[in-house]
Amino acid sequence: MSILITGGAGYIGSHTSVELLKQGEDLVLLDNFSNSKPEVLDKIKEITGKEFRFYEGDMIDETVLHKIFTENHIEAVIDFAAYKAVGESVQKPVEYYINNVSTVLVLLNTMKKHGVKTLVFSSSATVYGDPEKVPITEETKTGGTTNPYGTSKYMVEQILKDLYHSDPEWNIAILRYFNPVGAHESGLIGEEPKGIPANLMPYIARVAAGSLKELSIFGNDYDTKDGTGVRDYIHVVDLAIGHFKALEKLRKDHQGLHIYNLGTGVGYSVLDMVKAFENANHVKVPYKIAPRRAGDIAVCYADPTKAKEELDFVATRSLEDMCRDSWNYQKNS
Ligand code: NAD
Ligand code: UD1
Repeated sequence: MSILITGGAGYIGSHTSVELLKQGEDLVLLDNFSNSKPEVLDKIKEITGKEFRFYEGDMIDETVLHKIFTENHIEAVIDFAAYKAVGESVQKPVEYYINNVSTVLVLLNTMKKHGVKTLVFSSSATVYGDPEKVPITEETKTGGTTNPYGTSKYMVEQILKDLYHSDPEWNIAILRYFNPVGAHESGLIGEEPKGIPANLMPYIARVAAGSLKELSIFGNDYDTKDGTGVRDYIHVVDLAIGHFKALEKLRKDHQGLHIYNLGTGVGYSVLDMVKAFENANHVKVPYKIAPRRAGDIAVCYADPTKAKEELDFVATRSLEDMCRDSWNYQKNS
């Protein structure tokens, strides 16, 4: 039996593939390289010394999915394939809804046809919008998303709830990631944003490398300890392990719809991140204070209790690990 990983060449998909291969899982990966490179596949093999099957194709294409399900004995799907740039989603809502929502419908329809009903889905803390209180539990109200990317995740969550309601034989884990950062300790795989990074950690890494002049800190007048925004950064390898734990849970339960926050439960400010990066890597990260970024919230961090109790998942990698591994990958790339 194999696990299908859609978007397996991407940032989180590649790290999850490594962790699953290390656990002895048999994998089939699908990717169209819209936001990744074929070389990543060789790196996954280099890190693990293991083989897997790969299909190049678009998840919107039912024939590709049908071929995968016909040629392999798929037990479960972990779905990472999506677009993820918040700013771009505002410019290209149609493309985002097609790639983040329509593709999932094609996937679910094909899974149904082939009698495969086990799915792990990549969602995001963005579905909580501006949360009423922190830490954020899975019971915190969702909705109020402010951009098509966030709304696409919210919509898929609703689709999955409707699906489970219609047929309780489905076995689904919705994982709401907080802020994934870092890279594999080998420095062989990591996050490679196209163009100028929109997210904090890759931006800091490029400033430290000298390819960007300085970091703009978006606002220092939030109601936080130092005025800058607070987030729950989680090492991508911890996040990858969380997917294995979710899969184990689905294997035990056989059916259900489960929602888990994947975060550390600790919030760090932008200034904390700058200092941690400088200290971990003995580099300088010049910065200036800039106006707030539209759509940003002051504070966002998880209550990770449910994942701990039900998945036995606890993120163990420190902020120093996250900063060191991000820098290690930046230096290699
Ligand atoms: P990524 O862009 O690095 O990986 C996505 C992969 O999917 C890429 O390799 C891309 O080429 C592929 N892909 C996209 N559309 C496809 C399609 N139609 N058919 C086949 N392949 C396709 O992104 P990531 O950071 O690894 O994110 C993975 C998932 O996690 C996404 O669903 C994303 O929305 C979600 N997520 C990411 C973050 C984050 O900060 N990285 C946070 C919360 C949720
Ligand atoms: C962003 C996305 C969110 C997604 C999440 C995944 C936006 C508005 N939101 O969240 O939908 O789920 O990534 O990781 O893009 N910052 C700076 N300067 C920068 C970049 C960021 O000060 O150049 C600050 C931000 O204001 C924020 C913090 O750093 O306080 C983290 O920002 P970022 O990495 O973009 O993540 P989020 O905004 O939390």
